[in-house]
Amino acid sequence: MPVRTLDDTPDLQGKRVLVRADFNVALNEGRIEDDTRIKKTLPTIETLKSRGAIVILCSHLGRPDGSVKEELRLDPVASRLEELLGSRVHKLDDCVGEEVKAAVEEREAGDVVLLENTRFHTGETRNEEEFSRQLAELAEIYVHDAFGAAHRAHASTEGVGHHLPAFAGQLMSREIEALEEVRDSPRHPFVVLLGGAKVSGKIGVIERFLEVADTILVGGAMANTFLAAGGVEVEESLVDEDSLSEATRLAERAGDKLVLPVDAVVAAEPDPDAERKIASVNAVPRGWHILDVGPETVTSFEKKVAEARTVLWNGPLGAFEWEPFAEGTFSMARALARSDATTIVGGGETVAAITQLGLEERFTHVSTGGGAFLEFMEGKELPGIRILKKNGRSG
Ligand code: 3PG
Repeated sequence: MPVRTLDDTPDLQGKRVLVRADFNVALNEGRIEDDTRIKKTLPTIETLKSRGAIVILCSHLGRPDGSVKEELRLDPVASRLEELLGSRVHKLDDCVGEEVKAAVEEREAGDVVLLENTRFHTGETRNEEEFSRQLAELAEIYVHDAFGAAHRAHASTEGVGHHLPAFAGQLMSREIEALEEVRDSPRHPFVVLLGGAKVSGKIGVIERFLEVADTILVGGAMANTFLAAGGVEVEESLVDEDSLSEATRLAERAGDKLVLPVDAVVAAEPDPDAERKIASVNAVPRGWHILDVGPETVTSFEKKVAEARTVLWNGPLGAFEWEPFAEGTFSMARALARSDATTIVGGGETVAAITQLGLEERFTHVSTGGGAFLEFMEGKELPGIRILKKNGRSG
């Protein structure tokens, strides 16, 4: 069902528009490590500015649990935005209240305001009516551009949409369009590549892909769980113990569709300087750890990707933040970048690996969502998208 987009908005000249962005970026000592999410919000901000709107941005950052955490203020985001936009961003120290209202009312057409972290208030994650109403009072129109947070039914991602006319921003629209196409009508062969640590958060998505994908390639610590569930002795490797029985059930259902690693880079310790070697998954030395997929696995995964017409990837194949264990993840990133297939990737770590290699432009679509990406692909209706649907309330 289509959503209302910026094309459906009324005249915006001089109108106050509340934009929910996903500026939940990784920070290191106050420095932004990856500004992808900020850059991807620029088209919406620029469009609204050019149409004469007063742009009031809001976002969460981290999980401050309803109180002010100095290190989670949005000031670094404001500075980066100013650089990217080449114009002033009026950063405020709160996101609701009389002072915020007054500061917003002073602004003129084309101005950009950034409110403080919405999660400094308990009303945000509890989706409290009163807090949603306070946010809504700041503006006349609501634009949701935070695809990465659309799986959260929070005040700024869902509640406010019941108080103002709600529209999808350009990033949100692009994400929905690109992901919907692959979710609903992938071209075959359709190969899914899954990695990362946990099986638990991905059970739903695996179930769905068992129905629609031709092959599911599994790497990362997630593969250890499947191997362990199948009786392989993975020694000290990371295993999602709580998901062992689910893994057994999924593997039985999947049969040949689910492809696990045959070899691995193993190390004496989970440490980049530890002794390491390549081993068959059936011969992990006693007390050692699987930290990456091995070369034989990479070759067979690359072959599957080369034959595919659609590839979807979520989750690294090893501890790629440590150079000795990055080869599996990086090889697959290159394999997808080379492929002529429709390539879709999502999840913070996966996108970080691609960005590190400078390959973002070589993918059909790089999603800004992690949890939202998986839930969307699983076929769930995300609360932050439901409020934008055309037959829903238009405010
Ligand atoms: C994300 O980074 O996946 C989104 O911004 C949502 O953040 P959250 O998991 O803290 O709700």
